Amino acid sequence: MIFKVVSGSLSSGKEALLLGLSEGGKLPAWAAGWPAPIRSAAKDLLKTKRVSGKLNETFLLPVAGRWIVFAGVGKAAELTLDKVRQASGAGARRILSAGFDRFTRGLIPVPGASVQQVAQAGAEGTLLGIYSFTRWKSVKPEDKKELKIVTVLIGNGKDLSAVRKGIEAGRQIADSAIWTRDMVNQPANKLTPTMLANEAKSAARKFRFSCRILDMKAQKKLGMEALLGVARGSREPSKFIVLEYKGPGSSGKKPLIWLGKGITFDSGGISIKPSEKMELMKYDMAGAAAVLGAVRATAALKLPVHVVGLIASTENLPGGSAQKPGDVVRAMGGKTIEVINTDAEGRLVLADALGYARKNYKPAAMVDLATLTGACVVALGQHCGGLMGTNASWNKQVEKAGQQSGERVWELPLWTEYTEAVRSDVADVKNVGDGKAGTITAAAFLREFAGEEIPWVHLDIAGVAWADADRGHLRKGATAFGVRLLVDLAAGWNGKV
Ligand code: BES
Ligand code: ZN
Ligand code: ZN
Repeated sequence: MIFKVVSGSLSSGKEALLLGLSEGGKLPAWAAGWPAPIRSAAKDLLKTKRVSGKLNETFLLPVAGRWIVFAGVGKAAELTLDKVRQASGAGARRILSAGFDRFTRGLIPVPGASVQQVAQAGAEGTLLGIYSFTRWKSVKPEDKKELKIVTVLIGNGKDLSAVRKGIEAGRQIADSAIWTRDMVNQPANKLTPTMLANEAKSAARKFRFSCRILDMKAQKKLGMEALLGVARGSREPSKFIVLEYKGPGSSGKKPLIWLGKGITFDSGGISIKPSEKMELMKYDMAGAAAVLGAVRATAALKLPVHVVGLIASTENLPGGSAQKPGDVVRAMGGKTIEVINTDAEGRLVLADALGYARKNYKPAAMVDLATLTGACVVALGQHCGGLMGTNASWNKQVEKAGQQSGERVWELPLWTEYTEAVRSDVADVKNVGDGKAGTITAAAFLREFAGEEIPWVHLDIAGVAWADADRGHLRKGATAFGVRLLVDLAAGWNGKV
């Protein structure tokens, strides 16, 4: 798909048009430039309440020989970049399903945002909204036609280069997020830890960042017993992936470290999960895939930052030599863990990743992303991830990146009292809490390995990594949550927490 940027007016041309409508019964201010027949058709739709303008609502209508898709953006006074992103996704999808392979659109003004940012959000929304995962369909479904050209009309020629820049950034970020979605949607027999490592290697070659894969022998040598303990139940070898990107002017700077949980399938192990919906546990590597996508995008955008990505990847299966409830393992940092429940495996593999980060780098700050707890899905649902951390200012920075990128996270308290729940009778810590505040006690466990000196944030993305239905730029399935948040964080990073 290509974006064309053209300065001109909406009245020329015959292509289908995508136009934004706001909620509240009146035409939005930006409709001033629409041709008269379109204005009156839109007014009529609103007056007769056939269209409300609610976010992501779409309506297809022929006006004076031209097809128009109206996409709702919600209340005009509450317009944000994310609503532009969402409506762009919903609108593009509607146009595609109506059988068009091209359309023309404008850029509506968003309070507090530049035209470049609106162009970027629009491009991201378009590309992400028309995404679908058809890898294993022998016959392409009807709606999988291809969108070929999107013409972005700008009223003011002087915006041309800003709009082009925005679209280019949006394309890089969306391409990386699509790569992430593909990996997450991929069934576990088609994406093992080895294949995840291969994906990392090929992206590293293409986008010029470094990638090292530590095999099981290397993991053993480093003392990654927690990761290896989880891997024991599987025939597939575990992989520890180390990515490093040094942007222009960043060498010698302390790195930002992003860590990802990469369980390519989580059966629960010996503490086996019920079979209902177990197939979804192929998405238990969404944190890892988000880190991969974010490093790729950061490199593609040539951001002037030093980033290290660390991914601990294995299957969690109940094979004959699987680890058992009650087993004790020693994580890389030296602390011992009593494995009460083999299904709380994410925190085990992350314990070693955090240990690796602390041993091998002087991190400026760390963020881990993990589909860590079902409790987080219960607490926060699908509209925000959970955030917990050790440094208030770093927490805020990450939270802000979430807001700006439209991948919102909400802070939960990580008071020291919660650590009591993960004290073990036989080891330093145990891998489950006391049945209460499951998301927080998981983070309290991780803090034992992250330490207190390096600012660290844990993002529980169990609820947001997967969408149950299409919504705006999200499609049913993998969302790639975290890619945009991390890229935003890197773009705003000035070396200080
Ligand atoms: N991968 C799961 C968490 C999860 C659940 C992710 C639902 C996405 C959707 C994780 O490994 C897990 O099983 N956690 C347990 C922890 C418990 C045993 C302490 C959980 O949340 O039940
Ligand atoms: Zn689990
Ligand atoms: Zn898991």
